Amino acid sequence: MEKIVALCKRRGFIFQSSEIYGGLNGAWDYGPLGVELKRNLKDYWWKCMTQFRDDIVGFDGSILMNAAVWKASGHVDTFSDPMVEDPITKKRFRSDQIEPQSGTAYYYKGVRSVPSSVQEQSEAAIQSDKGPIPTTKSSSALTSPFAVLVPKGKPEASAQKAAKEFYKFFIEKALPDESELILDRTEQVENSTAFSPENGAQLGLEQKFNLMFKTYVGATESEDSVTYLRPETAQAMFVQFKNVLDVSQKKLPFGIAQIGKAFRNEINPRNFTFRSREFEQMELEFFIKPGTGPDWLNKWLEERLAWYEAIGIPRAKIHVLTVPEKDRAFYSQGTYDLEYEFPFGIQELEGIAHRGNYDLKQHQDASGKPLEYFDEESKTKYLAEVVEPSAGVDRTVLALLCEAYDEETVKDEENGKEETRVVLHFSPRMAPIKAAVFPLLKNKPELVAVAKDIYKTLQPLLKVTYADTAAIGRRYRRMDEIGTPFGITVDFETLEGAKEASTSATGTPIAAGQKDTVTLRHRDTMKQERIAIPDLPAYLLANVA
Ligand code: GAP
Repeated sequence: MEKIVALCKRRGFIFQSSEIYGGLNGAWDYGPLGVELKRNLKDYWWKCMTQFRDDIVGFDGSILMNAAVWKASGHVDTFSDPMVEDPITKKRFRSDQIEPQSGTAYYYKGVRSVPSSVQEQSEAAIQSDKGPIPTTKSSSALTSPFAVLVPKGKPEASAQKAAKEFYKFFIEKALPDESELILDRTEQVENSTAFSPENGAQLGLEQKFNLMFKTYVGATESEDSVTYLRPETAQAMFVQFKNVLDVSQKKLPFGIAQIGKAFRNEINPRNFTFRSREFEQMELEFFIKPGTGPDWLNKWLEERLAWYEAIGIPRAKIHVLTVPEKDRAFYSQGTYDLEYEFPFGIQELEGIAHRGNYDLKQHQDASGKPLEYFDEESKTKYLAEVVEPSAGVDRTVLALLCEAYDEETVKDEENGKEETRVVLHFSPRMAPIKAAVFPLLKNKPELVAVAKDIYKTLQPLLKVTYADTAAIGRRYRRMDEIGTPFGITVDFETLEGAKEASTSATGTPIAAGQKDTVTLRHRDTMKQERIAIPDLPAYLLANVA
């Protein structure tokens, strides 16, 4: 993962947001290559949903919506994660993601010999600074229970250090020699998640933390002007169901597709872009007749697995998890999670959920506006149900990078020496740059003229680049490292005629002495062959689509 993160920065795929100011946790910027990769991914999803099928239409909803939407959808009341706080550092953790720890837990009752003169101040601080920690005072001790977990083999001193941090305020106010920790007991603890993974401090009580970013609309900051940045793109598609249905004149089953930003104030953003606070989703709300949910859920599972294969993520690397009822969102009648083997573990890329008619019903009830579908065949009105494949753009970009990254020991194409080649084996469809055009030497105007000509011919058709600095082997390596599938080199055979007869990349014969052919180099195999210049556009278009 470190190597991938370093490559992303070095070659301009992904940068830390606000980097020169120390960054912003959970936010990322896509550089010149990253944005092309991401765009290719989104464009392909968009085409597969809205162009290659007749039963899905596109949509682009606003990020800010009436707060009533989030109340009706359940997000205001239930879109939260369980959170615990480290009382020393004030750092917050998702309680369901804490790694279990084992060791000796030291339980303290408090500190002794706090001078009575400072006790009044100390107690005030307990209320304001430490929150609702139950404390009592006596003339010589301040009691406030606290515990520290110390891994096996480590001395009590490290527990004392953390405990003193916890009781710091009181200890600082006391004369240093007079303060002393009061140990209550020790316990051997196995696989506990009650202690901070960073310093062993006993974590506070679990609280619910709503993940939506709150903001105010308009110049007045009052409860009436509160709304939220959308935490999923889905809701706008439910709220506009009727409008889209009327204008598109679709019949069930039909879908609405959307790609856009979503925001979640994640407690612990982590694993590079995997869990971010600002990210993009590609969501399809596929509206179906009641009772057909299980069938459609399975159909969409197959569709989506095939789609991942088509972008270069093999079926074997995707794990399908049938989410057990206890772990499903409360509205879901069945969910598959598609998980990818990331270097940091098998983690979710996409969720495919059968949401029943939950969303349409909630919005119909809350708004008072009918959102039912009139079925011409049965002459009945009912609420459509929904199957929703919801994929993360950033997570899929990360999966593409992880899947593509490779280090190979190869022979230098110029001097035959062994070296390590870093290569991104992107599928040509996803590759940020499809082909690079090179004159073999930059100081030979005849070569440069032909190369520039080819570059200009290809430029309107697909994303190409032109490079003339460094030896040709170095230029190939640089293109390998950013995943460019084809290299096109204008060499002396282009001008003087091919040295020998061969079969071109397109399958047509090239005669010895034939002019206007170039070397076509393939990134993955490093194989080189010749191709006639006029054949290049059609060949490349056919091989990167
Ligand atoms: N409308 C359903 C929905 O939003 P979700 O499982 O919460 O479902 C769908 O999110 C997808 O969005 C996830 O599978 C993931 O790919 C992406 N996603 C969710 N939270 C994310 C985060 N904090 N950072 C990056 N991607 C995220």
